[in-house]
Amino acid sequence: MDKKLLILGFAGSLRKGSYNKALLRAAEELLPEETKLEIFDLEGIPPFNQELESRMPEKVKEFKAKIRAADAILIATPEHNYSVPGVLKNAIDWASRPYGDNSFEGKPAAIMSASTGMLGGARAQYHLRQIFVFLDMRPVNRPEVFITFAGQKIDEQGKLNDETSRKLIKQLLEALIYLTKKLKQ
Ligand SMILES: Cc1cc2nc3c(=O)[nH]c(=O)nc-3n(C[C@H](O)[C@H](O)[C@H](O)COP(=O)(O)O)c2cc1C
Repeated sequence: MDKKLLILGFAGSLRKGSYNKALLRAAEELLPEETKLEIFDLEGIPPFNQELESRMPEKVKEFKAKIRAADAILIATPEHNYSVPGVLKNAIDWASRPYGDNSFEGKPAAIMSASTGMLGGARAQYHLRQIFVFLDMRPVNRPEVFITFAGQKIDEQGKLNDETSRKLIKQLLEALIYLTKKLKQ
């Protein structure tokens, strides 16, 4: 029997009530059968300091190992000032280092974003796609999952209740699995 594909998911937000963390939990409920999602919290990753590359902080070592072990990556991120939040960029910078040991290299990846605004984090997603070029990742292009006005779609318990959004996330996961399997052939 085939082993389950492992997706590593992380959010570009540290807050407990994060709408983007809620998207990852929704993804967990919507996973295709042959798939497992492990959610990693970026809390505790220190600010990047190149002097520490030769003795990586434990949390960074853990993050890099999880990325390596995963078949695919799922990122749920807010948009901060029209771009990727510093917390997410910082974690990516760590995982891409030291030179020659980029943990993301060749990994298939899907992006989704939730924002309280009317563009749903679109600008952050396009900046993230640009970062993927240097990381040499394999992004899923469609569907694009922008959860607009997230406060109206995610309830106080952190559950995504909007059916259209849930359907899109399901399609995104299916596209990620399709791409992951193709790249393994
Ligand atoms: C520093 C900061 C900058 C923000 N900039 C944007 C922005 O450029 N575009 C946007 O749609 N929302 C922006 N927001 C609002 C976020 O969409 C909103 O706070 C969202 O809930 C954050 O995601 P989270 O719930 O996963 O923490 C910003 C919020 C913060 C704290």
